[in-house]
Amino acid sequence: MQKPEIKAAVESILKGKHIVLGITGGIAAYKSVTLLRLLVKAGAEVQVVITPAGKEFITPVTLSSLSGKPVVSEFFTANTGEWHSHVDLGLWADLMVIAPATASTIGKMANGIADNMLVTTYLSAKEHVMIAPAMDLDMMAHPSTVRNLATLESYGVEIIEPAAGELASHLMGKGRMEEPENIFSRIERFFMKQCDMLGKKVAITAGPTYEKLDPVRFIGNYSSGKMGFALAEECAARGAEVTLVCGPVSLQTANPNIHRIDVESAEEMLEASREPFANADMGIFAAAVADYRPESRAESKLKREGVEEMSLRLVKNPDIAATLASVKREGQLFVGFALETDNAHANALGKLRKKNLDMVVLNSLQDKGAGFGTDTNKVTILRKDGTERSFPLKSKREVAADIIAEILS
Ligand code: CTP
Repeated sequence: MQKPEIKAAVESILKGKHIVLGITGGIAAYKSVTLLRLLVKAGAEVQVVITPAGKEFITPVTLSSLSGKPVVSEFFTANTGEWHSHVDLGLWADLMVIAPATASTIGKMANGIADNMLVTTYLSAKEHVMIAPAMDLDMMAHPSTVRNLATLESYGVEIIEPAAGELASHLMGKGRMEEPENIFSRIERFFMKQCDMLGKKVAITAGPTYEKLDPVRFIGNYSSGKMGFALAEECAARGAEVTLVCGPVSLQTANPNIHRIDVESAEEMLEASREPFANADMGIFAAAVADYRPESRAESKLKREGVEEMSLRLVKNPDIAATLASVKREGQLFVGFALETDNAHANALGKLRKKNLDMVVLNSLQDKGAGFGTDTNKVTILRKDGTERSFPLKSKREVAADIIAEILS
């Protein structure tokens, strides 16, 4: 029996996923309408890209009404000159599915003949690609089709084998596009395979904290929140239910599995974090919490007239990681960060022990490209058992994947 939270997660596996649905010129194009409906009903965002021949079989109006997005077919919109970027589409998508894929499109894909929007999108695609071939039995069995499919398979394209049955030519044989319901199941299975954190609850702190001096001034730091947000996106993409408690940042969260709580000060961050961390399987403290706050906060703006000097008295903020990890339950795993300039290793290990953490991610400000504000990071992960692992400079999203892989291992 599946736990209810896992069942709910499976049911919402396609929610918010970005899918490019490519449609080419074959009789089976009518079945793509059913596939599109299933995907949209499951909560996916679908961008249809159709070949010129595809439009002879199914109208863009039908497809755009169902997907809620204009269908892309040409490189430009003729009357406005607006350019449709296949590169952007490739980056936007989590998955590309071409159904039906004709012999012609398969041949073009295998040989890089980029004479339409769909093939250029395929050539720019960074995500996984699935194709559902559909053609007459003799075309399907022709050595050139067989070779082109083998080539695409060697490029990592997933082939959804056509079924045998009556074809448009009324001949019997292999070439019928797989039924839309079965293609939909393959798509679900693809996303399921990526979800090794299904049913897991993760709590994350991120960004800086701002400690108010008066209504218009604060003490803060340069943290952008990018590392914590990358961790949240990575966990959510792997099926986890994430609570992200973040200080003032200018970042957006896209995945519906991320529940975001915006706070300002360290004290607010601690209060907002208590419940999510108590209920989490995994807790990650990625926030750059201000260690001190002004002892008093002025209700009105501080004026400078007649004030030649000013001293600020600061008092210590709560240590959020240490406070929440001191009541860590059996089975919970808590991870902290350590941003160091000197004695990095010893300081990071000290923090791991003092704060009752299971892992510390160390990034040194002496490493170029690591730390605050950048899109990259270079980390060493230290574990409670004394083992450690260093990683090269990578994008923060890749670093997030490395950290999660370490935690899961
Ligand atoms: N942390 C926290 N609350 C604080 C300070 C730090 O939760 N008040 C967490 C950070 O999110 C991080 C870890 O503790 O995961 C270490 O933070 P860091 O700023 O490197 O260390 P500090 O304990 O503040 O020590 P110092 O600034 O003196 O190096």
